[in-house]
Amino acid sequence: MMSQAQQRSWAPLSFKTRLLIYLFFFTLLSSLLFLRGRREVLTDHEWDVLIFTQHWPNTVCMTWEEKNPSNNSCRLPKEKDIWTIHGIWPTKLGTIGPLYCNSSYHFNATQLASIESNLTEYWIDVEVPQPANSFWKHEWLKHGTCCSALPNMSTELKYFKAGLEWLDKYNMKNVLDKAGLYPDTNTSTDLTTIWLGIKTGLGVNPSIHCIHDKKTGQYYLQEIRICFDKSLQLTDCDGIRSRRMFRWQPLGNCPNEKPIFYPSTIPPRSRKPLPPPPDNSVISLLKVIQFVMWLTS
Ligand SMILES: *[C@@H]1O[C@H](CO)[C@@H](O)[C@H](O)[C@H]1NC(C)=O
Ligand SMILES: *[C@@H]1O[C@H](CO)[C@@H](O)[C@H](O)[C@H]1NC(C)=O
Ligand SMILES: *[C@@H]1O[C@H](CO)[C@@H](O)[C@H](O)[C@H]1NC(C)=O
Ligand SMILES: *[C@@H]1O[C@H](CO)[C@@H](O)[C@H](O)[C@H]1NC(C)=O
Ligand SMILES: *[C@@H]1O[C@H](CO)[C@@H](O)[C@H](O)[C@H]1NC(C)=O
Ligand SMILES: *[C@@H]1O[C@H](CO)[C@@H](O)[C@H](O)[C@H]1NC(C)=O
Repeated sequence: MMSQAQQRSWAPLSFKTRLLIYLFFFTLLSSLLFLRGRREVLTDHEWDVLIFTQHWPNTVCMTWEEKNPSNNSCRLPKEKDIWTIHGIWPTKLGTIGPLYCNSSYHFNATQLASIESNLTEYWIDVEVPQPANSFWKHEWLKHGTCCSALPNMSTELKYFKAGLEWLDKYNMKNVLDKAGLYPDTNTSTDLTTIWLGIKTGLGVNPSIHCIHDKKTGQYYLQEIRICFDKSLQLTDCDGIRSRRMFRWQPLGNCPNEKPIFYPSTIPPRSRKPLPPPPDNSVISLLKVIQFVMWLTS
C-alpha cells in the first residue's frame, strides 16, 4: 500500500508539471526521429549525377569582400578572364548531397603536391584570409569523399585531377566566348542568352547561378554548373534541386527577366546601379522563342 506521503507527492501534479513532462518526452522523441533521419541521409551515399561547378572569380570576390569589408580581400588567377573550379559534387536528383561520406578519409595536402601549381591557379581559393588549403579540404571532405565508387575519382589526387581536366575541357570562358558573351563591367546580358550559349556550345542543360547585390539591386553571374553521369559523360542537369520559380525556366536561381552582369573587373566597393540596358524587347522575345523551341524539340 502506498503511504500517504507518496500519494500526495504523485497524485496532485499541477497542470504546469504535466505540461513540462509532456514537453520533455515530445522533445526527446522528435530529437530521436530527427537523428534517425539524419543518420539515414548520412549513410545513404547513392547519387545520380556529378555536378561540376565553375565560378566567376570577380563575382566571388565581390561577395567575399562584402561579407567583411574591413578584413576580406581576394586572390585572383593570373590568367585573365578564366572561370575557376568550385567543386565536383555527387548529387542525388531532387536533393543536396550525399555529403561527408567518409570521415576516416582525412585531407592530406601532400598528396596534391604534383598538381599544386595548377590547383592554385585553376582551383584557386579566392577568399583571403582563409587558412591554407581550407577550400580544397572543404571540397574534399564534403564532396570528394562521396565519389569513392568511381575509379577515376577514388582518391584525393584523382578527384582534384578530374576537376582540372574538366576545367581544361569545359572552361566557361571558352564556352561563353564562342557564344559572343564576353565579360563586361558596364553592360548586362540576360539569362536566356547565357543559357542558349551553353546549350549550343555543350549540348546539355546547365544550371546557372547569380548573386543578388544588395548595394545596387543588380544580379551578377556567379556560378555555372554542368552535369556528368556515372560514365563521366556530359548530361543534362535536369532533376537537380533548383530554386527557379517555374519549371520552364532554365535551372538555377537567376531571374529570367532582369539584366545579369558578367563583370570584367571586380565591382568596386562603392558601386552604384548601372544604367538599364537599351530596350531590346524584340530581340528578347526572339530569344525566348528560341529557348522554348529548344525545350520542346
Ligand atoms: C579585422 O581583423 C582584425 C585583426 O585580426 C580584428 O582585430 C578585427 O576585429 C577584424 N575586424 C572585423 C570587422 O572582423
Ligand atoms: C574510407 O576511407 C578510408 C581511408 O582512406 C578507406 O580505407 C576506407 O575504405 C573508406 N571507406 C569507404 C566506405 O569508402
Ligand atoms: C600524407 O601523404 C604523404 C604522401 O603520400 C604521406 O607521406 C603522409 O604520411 C600523409 N600524411 C598523413 C597524416 O597521412
Ligand atoms: C597544368 O595545366 C596546364 C594547362 O592546362 C597543362 O598543360 C599541364 O599539363 C598541367 N600540369 C599538371 C602537372 O597537371
Ligand atoms: C579517367 O582518368 C584518366 C586519367 O586521368 C583520363 O585519361 C580519362 O580520360 C578519364 N576518363 C574519363 C571518362 O574521364
Ligand atoms: C565602365 O564605365 C566607366 C564609366 O563610364 C569607365 O570609367 C570604365 O572604364 C568602364 N569600364 C570598363 C571595363 O569598360
